Amino acid sequence: MTALAVEALTAGYDRSTVLSGIDLSVPTGGALGLLGRNGVGKSTLVMTLMGLVSPTSGRVLLDGRDVAGLRPDLIARAGVAIVPQGRRIWASLSVAETLALATRGHGRRWTVDTVLDLLPRLRERLGQQAGQLSGGEQQMLAIARALLTDPALLLLDEPSDGLAPAIVDQISQLLTTLRGEGVTLLLVEQDLHLAFAVCDRIAVMEKGRIVHEVTTAEFRADRATAHRLLGVA
Ligand SMILES: Nc1ncnc2c1ncn2[C@@H]1O[C@H](COP(=O)(O)OP(=O)(O)O)[C@@H](O)[C@H]1O
Ligand SMILES: [Mg+2]
Repeated sequence: MTALAVEALTAGYDRSTVLSGIDLSVPTGGALGLLGRNGVGKSTLVMTLMGLVSPTSGRVLLDGRDVAGLRPDLIARAGVAIVPQGRRIWASLSVAETLALATRGHGRRWTVDTVLDLLPRLRERLGQQAGQLSGGEQQMLAIARALLTDPALLLLDEPSDGLAPAIVDQISQLLTTLRGEGVTLLLVEQDLHLAFAVCDRIAVMEKGRIVHEVTTAEFRADRATAHRLLGVA
């Protein structure tokens, strides 16, 4: 099955078109790493998939059902969750309050307890205000909050941003564990090592389009293309 298929998706803001015909797909249980320079539209794509930016045309198929243009809450109910760029946690809420707000009900795969088993550090911080957590802990909280909506497809927008390498390793292990649980991932990253460790395919965006898509092994073997598209060594 194909968890996510995006077909000819266009979207933007007011007068500017940012996404000009995106095609991509992620098989159920797969993980696609989405790379690209600043400003090419990666966050706009993720926000459009979540329904936070309205598409102007194209399709977003979740297990074959078109959700393009639906409200974010309906897209969430269809099994999509977002870990937004910059984490977007409420600084004044405690960890426990943040998790309680995200919880949808009983009988689900992820509960506050199972999420805290996965993220034991957060259990020690339950009473603390989210704004007082370290950057890594805030990122873990943003991931925990997303998991509590029980996503089949998790969209992560630069989860490693600003974090120390040891914390990025923890995020890498966490995402690998989630893959083992069958969660499908779309991971926007600047940290190539994280994308390589977690994802089986890599796509590159330039100016609102996917210009390259290969297996992670193929991407790693082709340094010239990586350099041309991303400017990295
Ligand atoms: N809320 C917004 N309103 C208007 N333009 C925006 C908004 N968010 C992003 N943009 C513009 O859309 C383009 C793509 O931005 P973005 O999707 O954030 O790229 P990336 O995540 O790849 O860095 C940029 O030119 C950016 O300035
Ligand atoms: Mg971005």
